[in-house]
Amino acid sequence: MSTTFTIAIDGPAGAGKGTLARRLADHYRLNLLDTGLTYRAVAHALLQLGLPLDNVSAAETAARQVDLAKLDRSVLSAHAVGEAASKVAVFPSVRRILVEKQRDFAKAPPGAVLDGRDIGTVVCPDADIKLYVTATAEVRAKRRLDEIESIGGTANFNEILADIVRRDERDMGRADSPLKPAADAHLLDTSQMAIEAAFLAARAIIDDALAKRNEA
Ligand code: DC
Repeated sequence: MSTTFTIAIDGPAGAGKGTLARRLADHYRLNLLDTGLTYRAVAHALLQLGLPLDNVSAAETAARQVDLAKLDRSVLSAHAVGEAASKVAVFPSVRRILVEKQRDFAKAPPGAVLDGRDIGTVVCPDADIKLYVTATAEVRAKRRLDEIESIGGTANFNEILADIVRRDERDMGRADSPLKPAADAHLLDTSQMAIEAAFLAARAIIDDALAKRNEA
């Protein structure tokens, strides 16, 4: 039996996979990697250097320099960085470099929860558990608006929705590792579900798999 346990979580931006990943990593005492931050780090490096996002060789260099231990969410979480990340994420050579780092991370005992777009399909196709977390674009836009307003900001619902739809199209439409559920992924639609309910549903799936693994 392998010594690591891997939980792969994929889904579109704003579906709640990040929160779910954190809760599951805490609960099962696993390492946690938000792989979106790795693409964001590459995009951020290019933006800082004032380079165009389609400068593939600069993006490859930035990808090689990504240190998983030093991903700073406070810098990388900016909306513009997410948009830019989605653009650099189309380049296969950039993906290869980051995927290798993500796989190494997943291999370290006791295992990990990784969330992203291609974890169950490409990064960890042998993951013990695969979850595909989704919600309608409208629900995701409303959550984003609430989040912005809760910290005193203002935003326009229709603009957020248009952004989300555009990002979905880019992430699902790219040729290399497009966002899609793995054939053996459990689908969790959080449109009508609070995060607590999604967490409980995921735990039921995982506990069942762990029980079977212990019987084996
Ligand atoms: O999850 P996020 O919003 O931080 O991701 C930012 C972008 O990075 C996303 O729009 C596409 C890309 N990404 C990817 O291509 N593959 C992943 N595993 C994670 C993110």
